[in-house]
Amino acid sequence: MQCVVAGAGYVGLTTALVLVEKGHTVVLVDVDEARAQRIAAGEVPFHEPGVEPALKSALTTGRFSTGTDLAAPTVTADAVFLCVGTPARPNGDADLSFIKAAAKGIGRGVRRSNLAPLVIVKSTVPPGTTTDLVVPAVAKASRKSEGAGFHAIANPEFLREGRALEDARRPDRLVVGAFGAEAGQRLVELWGHEGVPVVATSPTAAELIKYASNAFLATKVSFANEMALLAASLGVDVYEVMRGVGLDPRIGAEFLRAGVGFGGSCLPKDLKALHRFARRRGKPLRLPRAVLEINERQPQEAIRLLEHALGGLADKSVALLGLAFKPDTDDVRETRALPLYRALRAAGARVICWDPLAVKNFQRLVGDPVDATEDLRQALTGRDAAVIQTEWTQLRDLPADDWKRLLRNPVVVDGRRSVDAAGLVAAGIRYYAIGAPLPPS
Ligand code: UDX
Repeated sequence: MQCVVAGAGYVGLTTALVLVEKGHTVVLVDVDEARAQRIAAGEVPFHEPGVEPALKSALTTGRFSTGTDLAAPTVTADAVFLCVGTPARPNGDADLSFIKAAAKGIGRGVRRSNLAPLVIVKSTVPPGTTTDLVVPAVAKASRKSEGAGFHAIANPEFLREGRALEDARRPDRLVVGAFGAEAGQRLVELWGHEGVPVVATSPTAAELIKYASNAFLATKVSFANEMALLAASLGVDVYEVMRGVGLDPRIGAEFLRAGVGFGGSCLPKDLKALHRFARRRGKPLRLPRAVLEINERQPQEAIRLLEHALGGLADKSVALLGLAFKPDTDDVRETRALPLYRALRAAGARVICWDPLAVKNFQRLVGDPVDATEDLRQALTGRDAAVIQTEWTQLRDLPADDWKRLLRNPVVVDGRRSVDAAGLVAAGIRYYAIGAPLPPS
């Protein structure tokens, strides 16, 4: 099949590469010409395991190219995938301007096409967007109607950063929100995933499935964080509690790790967008707001532990370990490192930041000059305490004796349960973790 993918971000690039692996021919289109050219030269514009070799091999097939014009390749396409960003507006609403612009470009191509292509919305969009925005925009620009000149389908993506390629190759479900069963079946065949359950539904239900999934994941994390408060006050460890809870298959063991909270490009943004969307529809939801409030509180929990350990933060030198929102990425969007950094500075601490990949992105995010290093030992040397924000394996791999030797004052506040706590304690570190009993003073 001839495919066009609009938007060369995480979702677009991985979608394009997996389509090439499935034997299709793909044109990946981005408005950013430099980005399109870099990708055509085999360069991946972000850090994502496995994507570079997959891109290199896609480029050798002769079935993969990039460009900046959406209309021309759409004329001969069987399927066009919308993978452009839907960032949060300052008020929390999803910004749909990229979707609208891309839908227009696709419509101009559809106008000259006689293939009645599938127009597949993979971007995360508020429920109703495919029906109320994408279909009218494509129809207007193409002067053709849905179901005849083109077939719109909402086919949300559930990939995780750091595992984007694996998740796109082997999704745990294929959600196909089509207006007609036949078009939906064409998409299922195009993907050709074996043994993957298909949820055939309407476009609006498909869109809500995506929001509800991310909202539920975020709710699990905030639930664990809520229990962490109580567990610590009882002198028990929330990780033991959640292990006991998560073994119930109705609950599931994942996403119950308490700590400094969730970040990333999806969970916070989608939760905010869902909250605002529901309120606008006159159906305000109470859970998303509570989940976000709990998440905002969590960095403060780490600060509280630090203050307890050091008896105040003024003029203390603190290593902030991990700037990426999670390991194996250089992505700092909504990273909990930002509120931690700001709170530490506001309390008068001197902060040295460490991350193996995300230093540059974090410096850009903060705006002001940030004292930062990619050398973990340097970050620890002579500090009054370390606070862990990202569970990088480098932290677990650093011998306990080195933690003790390098830190001036042996205090570690672990916001992600990312190190061997017993080993550190045995080496003489005062180890604090969110949702755990305080160490003996
Ligand atoms: C998420 C969803 O998992 C994915 O399905 C969706 O398509 C996009 O959003 P991603 O943003 O890559 O993926 O991150 P994820 O691995 O889900 O982690 C999100 C955040 O939650 C991270 O900051 C992580 O540290 C935090 N988290 C996760 C916790 O604090 N506790 C947990 O138990 C799990």
